[in-house]
Amino acid sequence: MIALIEASNRAAQVDRLAAWLLAASGFVVLLVFGLIVIFAVRYRRGSKASRAPLPIAEWKVEAGWIAGTTLGFLAFFFFGARLFVAMEDASGPADEIRVVGRQWMWDVRQPNGRREFDTLHVPLGTRVRLRMTSEDVIHSFFVPDFRLKQDVIPGKEVLLVFTATRTGRFPLFCTEYCGSKHAQMKGEVIVQRPEDYARWMANAQPPAEVLAHGHNLFLHYGCSGCHDRGSIVHAPSLEGLYGATVPMADGTFRRVDATYLRDCILNPETVRPAGYPPVMPSFRGVVPESDLTEIIAYLEGSVAAP
Ligand code: CUA
Repeated sequence: MIALIEASNRAAQVDRLAAWLLAASGFVVLLVFGLIVIFAVRYRRGSKASRAPLPIAEWKVEAGWIAGTTLGFLAFFFFGARLFVAMEDASGPADEIRVVGRQWMWDVRQPNGRREFDTLHVPLGTRVRLRMTSEDVIHSFFVPDFRLKQDVIPGKEVLLVFTATRTGRFPLFCTEYCGSKHAQMKGEVIVQRPEDYARWMANAQPPAEVLAHGHNLFLHYGCSGCHDRGSIVHAPSLEGLYGATVPMADGTFRRVDATYLRDCILNPETVRPAGYPPVMPSFRGVVPESDLTEIIAYLEGSVAAP
């Protein structure tokens, strides 16, 4: 027997439905095969069993059998549909958490604005409503121990309502092929007791997390393609650049600070460092403000001049 972890109210509900469906299917299989065996023996060639017509009309037997099984299995449709609707319930009180799927990370915003990446903290025993969408392609949010799986679709918001019933860390996967790093798009759902969750929420975001995210964005927008050491394109390496003073093509000098980096990213036509061809494309309208801030924070923290 496989030990199944049921870590949400949905897990218990889904498992119960699956168990009933298995039992009903098993019952039908046994009934059909049992009748085949019984009839094969009873009506074998030369047996003395009665072959007189049935005492009731044959169509009534047929109709009864068809109606009985149809209604029986429609009951499963009813219970399944009810569960499906409950998971997408937009009404009633719940902690609302925003989840954005992006190549290739889960971007989570808690009710108080705290942001996290590839982890989702939820309080134990509290109704949670995830408001989910995707920024690029279709991803799928899958937490096996919660029996929750929901596609996230660009341009559309989908809901996922559940209550965690067990503390611990539970794996989170993307189950829709979404590009070359699909397999790495995974994380964890962390269920904490409400008081621990409240304490976690109140804490400032650890800088390491911000840096890791800025680095992800740096890769995501393709900055690293040209600006990593050893890249083929002739672009300035960013190592040791932040805080340094660099020569411009027109003979002036500029200090590399947040304003400079912002200009480089949004208005590269206005920044001409000496010795480099003007090939940097503008990311105006491509990098949203929130991401820009984080990329600059990352560059500030990780590649500052010694
Ligand atoms: Cu995201 Cu696969």
